[in-house]
Amino acid sequence: MSRLVVVSNRVTPITGSKAATAGGLAVGVLASLRETGGIWFGWSGEQTEAAAPMPKVFRTGNLTYITIDLNHQTFESYYGGFANRTLWPLFHYRLDLSSFDRDWYVTYRQVNQLFAEQLFPYLQDDDLVWVHDYHLITMGEELRKLGVKCRVGFFLHIPFPSAEVYVALPWHDQLVRAMCAYDLIGFQTSNDLRNFHDYLYREGIGYALADGLIHAFGHSLKAQEFPIGIDTNDFAAMATSAEAVRASQRLSRSLLGRRLIIGVDRLDYTKGITERLRAFECLLQNYPRQRGQVTFVQISAPSREDVPEYLELRHQVEATSGRINGLFSEFDWMPLRYLNRGFARRTLAGFFRLSRIGLVTPLRDGMNLVAKEYVAAQADEDPGVLVLSRFAGAADDLDGAVIVNPYDIEAVAEAMHLGLIMPLDERQERWRRLFAQVREHDVAHWRGNFVKALAEATPPAA
Ligand code: G6P
Repeated sequence: MSRLVVVSNRVTPITGSKAATAGGLAVGVLASLRETGGIWFGWSGEQTEAAAPMPKVFRTGNLTYITIDLNHQTFESYYGGFANRTLWPLFHYRLDLSSFDRDWYVTYRQVNQLFAEQLFPYLQDDDLVWVHDYHLITMGEELRKLGVKCRVGFFLHIPFPSAEVYVALPWHDQLVRAMCAYDLIGFQTSNDLRNFHDYLYREGIGYALADGLIHAFGHSLKAQEFPIGIDTNDFAAMATSAEAVRASQRLSRSLLGRRLIIGVDRLDYTKGITERLRAFECLLQNYPRQRGQVTFVQISAPSREDVPEYLELRHQVEATSGRINGLFSEFDWMPLRYLNRGFARRTLAGFFRLSRIGLVTPLRDGMNLVAKEYVAAQADEDPGVLVLSRFAGAADDLDGAVIVNPYDIEAVAEAMHLGLIMPLDERQERWRRLFAQVREHDVAHWRGNFVKALAEATPPAA
């Protein structure tokens, strides 16, 4: 079996305080690395004043972690600039929030080159290299320039936008050329793959062949969809762990018999948090009998706080939640609890299990694993209802959810109401379908499919 080499901007620690909040992806990638042995390479999470930081190597069992610090200014342009003020908003259809800066682009390419150069000495010819996400689109091309012979694949965790939006990026052709230096490109959904095909065709760069192959820039490579999953059994077990039960009992006591609606996201403008709060307001407005009967807990972990658009969003969410509580609170009932902090995954699992409705209503999302975690955490005897945005990749196969258009505030309020009054047998019927899907297409299924497709890809000509 070939050794796996995973590259991602963030490398998740396996121990320490951050390990408890590590997402399903990190856990899934780690499991696969443990199976084959290998390397996890990426940014250390540290910024330094040094111009050319040296990698730090840490070995444990058959696993090697290699991380590099990034120079402070470089990091600002690469992560705070090109990754999160250019690619992130653009790929999530927020042209209005996208900034284009040549220096950021140059630095982004330099960081990708640096990653490639620092990883290069550790690579063996039969390794499978798996590069993750929008921070590292051009790294594969840099590895090839260095003469790397092994198979190199790329997985995009966020959406690939429609060609009409994507071409607003001044460097659209260069990035797609770099993507085509990989042997395999993975997308979350068929929609993303279709957008990519469409772009190739419209620009006269290439076209789709049969069996997941495309022809572009004079050679063939694979481009396929691999919808990511969670470690379903593990998350389901977390929901009944002692920690989860303690947390949910404490929350339950505070609810005084009221039904719980829950939303959990990074505080990000793609998640539709303000729209969701307004939908809750609309629920209280249009269905006055629900007043005093429900509590909405919105948990929004701080994210990318140095990026101005995120600060702006924080103010917006604070103002909206304050306004709603001001309007509807009684002296013995506060409709909304807004928590601007993260929680351990076990605690969240307990909260999910307690809630009647899970609101996952992003305006655009590559997949959204919270939707799958919500499903995994439910109890068969009294499952909650997932209200899910049609613009989350997860909506493609979670057809037991109540699917909504998150821009349609009144429709989201109606969906919440439907969830609140839905009879037990319908909730069970929907949840059983959802759970079967989430369990079958779990993270092991995802990584197994990707790694198999990469292993079968044609290695570059010698
Ligand atoms: C999204 C991206 C990930 C990223 C995560 C957290 O899910 O697809 O690549 O790691 O957000 O964002 P951050 O900027 O904190 O790494």
